[in-house]
Amino acid sequence: MPATHPRIRTTEEYHEAYRRSVETPDAFWAEVAEPFTWRRKWDSVRGGEFSPAGTSTWFDGAKLNITENCLDRHLAARGNKLALIWEPNDPKQRHLRLTYRELYQEVCRFANVLHNLGVEKGDRVCLYMPMIPPLAIAVLACARIGAIHSVVFAGFSSTAIADRVNDAQAAFVITADGLNRGPKQIPVKRVVDEALESCPSVRKVLVVEHLGWPVHMQEGRDVWYHDEAKDVSRSFKAEEMAAEDPLFILYTSGSTGKPKGVVHTTAGYMVWADYTFRNVFQVEENDVYWCTADVGWVTGHSYLLYGPLLAGATTLMFEGVPTYPDAGRFWEVIDKHSVSIFYTAPTAIRSLMAAPLDNVLSYSLDSLRVLGSVGEPINEEAWHWYHQHVGKGRCPIVDTWWQTETAGIMISAMAGITPSKPTHAGLPMPGVEPVLLTQEGQEIEGNDQEGYLAIRASWPGVIRTTWGDHERAAQTYFRPYPGYYFTGDGARRDENGLYRIIGRVDDVINVSGHRFGTAEIENAINQDPHVVESAVVGYPHDVKGQGIYAYVILQDGVPDKETERQRIEASVIETVVAEIGKIARPDKIQIVSGLPKTRSGKIMRRILRKVAEGETSNIGDTTTLLDPAVVDEIVNGRK
Ligand code: WTA
Repeated sequence: MPATHPRIRTTEEYHEAYRRSVETPDAFWAEVAEPFTWRRKWDSVRGGEFSPAGTSTWFDGAKLNITENCLDRHLAARGNKLALIWEPNDPKQRHLRLTYRELYQEVCRFANVLHNLGVEKGDRVCLYMPMIPPLAIAVLACARIGAIHSVVFAGFSSTAIADRVNDAQAAFVITADGLNRGPKQIPVKRVVDEALESCPSVRKVLVVEHLGWPVHMQEGRDVWYHDEAKDVSRSFKAEEMAAEDPLFILYTSGSTGKPKGVVHTTAGYMVWADYTFRNVFQVEENDVYWCTADVGWVTGHSYLLYGPLLAGATTLMFEGVPTYPDAGRFWEVIDKHSVSIFYTAPTAIRSLMAAPLDNVLSYSLDSLRVLGSVGEPINEEAWHWYHQHVGKGRCPIVDTWWQTETAGIMISAMAGITPSKPTHAGLPMPGVEPVLLTQEGQEIEGNDQEGYLAIRASWPGVIRTTWGDHERAAQTYFRPYPGYYFTGDGARRDENGLYRIIGRVDDVINVSGHRFGTAEIENAINQDPHVVESAVVGYPHDVKGQGIYAYVILQDGVPDKETERQRIEASVIETVVAEIGKIARPDKIQIVSGLPKTRSGKIMRRILRKVAEGETSNIGDTTTLLDPAVVDEIVNGRK
């Protein structure tokens, strides 16, 4: 039996753990880390400095491999326990189950294939894959070899893949012939082929067969996984990694420039993913746990793969979408596999709320014990619907606030243990010291207060750097308010000290739980040959949380004809889809002759936001604008 990890089981234990984590962090985290498999223990627990440049180390000096902790460590006691259940897109297709022993063997096989292709410790491997077991296996195989995985969500365009491959200088790509998404099939390999036309660093492409589609295989570069895996062994000695060796890069959007490669390292990430997973969801040995996030996002990394496997839990991976073949699919899957812990996003809940209630009422959902929410603020109505119709009033909801940069859950209820209040994330995890700041950086004391959310001290999962450019990490997260990690979110602390996340305070919008920088979408729109300039803002959207509203100025001015206007709008949408992917499609495009700018040339986004939100009577002061008349035109032309 693996050494047991202590778990918090009462409110008093939570408060005690929290107190110790803040007063004696080294002793606290050393105790949490103790039961893992280490090849060598650490010299120091917590090191580095938030100020000036945001350097952190955790468990420095230790040696380990995270996959020995996800897999090997469980074999003796959990070898025959289910590690992974895979539910296909099409309910008529067979599902798949892998025990810990089988998953271990598959990961070793995959690692051997990668090794034979020349993948070495420290190499970057880009994965662009459907939600199928080989994706989970490939991620773990990279970690076993010590290669740095960079998973790119398979909804991104070829341009977006190329940007990420080039930024990381990846030499290897793992992909599949195609993927299913509801009623659609997407030729994934073809998208990769297009991307690789501008990626000179890539030496080998490993292709997993999924749909059985014919694909183009480039001689000398592309190989099929099933050919390479024929005669390889089912064991592979895990590479010895240093605590601070990078484990993965995950690209995410910020308020400036191109998406940046958030880097997480080995030991701190492992301890943080495991600790938060077990405590927030209050996982028991026989739970069947389902996180609906794609592995292309951080939630899929920490709470579909690493967290559950580190904890020796059974994790379910779903290939499809919530509404295929109908809006009862999630609930059907829960009954079919007796899911007891279910973790999804508010946008999915809202899209299912819109369907007739029978879709959920016709399933028993008796197996459910704990519900979770992640990715964006959950509105009151969705919270109550989730609680009443899915949880039948008996399952605690954990509303988990965190970010790609934090690696794991930062503020959340622990199921059934700390308070769960609608629309509130709740109390911080042990080790997390949230503060509210004024815009100038003053700490706001006391309860019933609102401000910018920042974190006062390092925790094991904190972002270590942005790939290839540490200064960017320093400037984005650690320089705005010296001594703190700045989250970019605004928050409120209620009268009992529970946190409620209000939303972004920077130029980042959250569409269906996916982050985009407004500048990133503007850059994409500006690639369209018709466009001279654009400004993008978010606006409230019933299902997506926020929608994308784009104001564009054209080369040839505002067209007179409606047909011409539509043609150009379609072209702009196509450009964004090609540059980023369908997920960043603008919901509304308004062609304008000018943008509200100050005399120094700065776009007054406040005005654009108000108009997009439908607030047209109370625009505020426009006298500082270069051309105040442009505001009337924008208000009158509002979509
Ligand atoms: C938002 C996803 C309110 C927030 C794990 C954050 C949330 C951004 C919540 C990070 C929540 C995430 N309540 N807002 N429970 N969870 N957010 O990096 O604005 O994709 O900064 O990480 O999503 O998004 P990311």
